[in-house]
Amino acid sequence: LRLGSIAPNFDADTTNGRINFHEYIGDNWVVLFSHPEDYTPVCTTELGAFAKSEPEFTKRGVKLIGLSANTIESHSGWIKDINELYDTNLTFPIIADKERKVAFLYDMLDYQDTTNVDSKGIAFTIRSVFVIDPKKTIRLILSYPASTGRNSAELLRVVDSLQTGDKQRVTTPINWVPGDDAIVHPSVNNDQAKVCKSESKGSSCSFSLTLAFRYFFRSTAS
Ligand code: BEZ
Repeated sequence: LRLGSIAPNFDADTTNGRINFHEYIGDNWVVLFSHPEDYTPVCTTELGAFAKSEPEFTKRGVKLIGLSANTIESHSGWIKDINELYDTNLTFPIIADKERKVAFLYDMLDYQDTTNVDSKGIAFTIRSVFVIDPKKTIRLILSYPASTGRNSAELLRVVDSLQTGDKQRVTTPINWVPGDDAIVHPSVNNDQAKVCKSESKGSSCSFSLTLAFRYFFRSTAS
């Protein structure tokens, strides 16, 4: 799977019932993230953080969905623990992928082998993140080692960048956050950039010095 691939469809049991993944996406953005095993310490902190930050994702039209290579029964106990531990109310679905079929379909395993497990049977490592847009196109793929917790703020930042980029035809520089300067997308010509610039006034996308520099650079270069 690569950026730009259509997210493969699948049917699966989740903690919120059986789903068809493409139906679950519907017209929304989706963040799909995965875990090799329930009750693993780093993953537990991540699920607590995702549950806490879910309203921020919802604000952006993003649905969360987790995956862990265990059963529904195991997931239910884990969710109860997480809610107690972090004082959360985890409501998004978690896929029961005991057979690691979805993990395999999405290249989440270290090697192309569903038997790639350690001595305790934990698959190293099913710790991916996919950001999928409403057209069901994969827009971001991340793969984390077991030792390193993910960053929910960074995922929100990426969603903000992708959504701003799609809407305003801009790209965003390093460490960009909404309100910072953005860069005119190379596919935008000077006349279109002028329109973008005038339309952007007062919006959350700032077209100040950086953009002006690029815009004028493009103007004088053509
Ligand atoms: C964890 O702590 O979440 C973890 C431990 C072993 C493998 C994968 C994840």
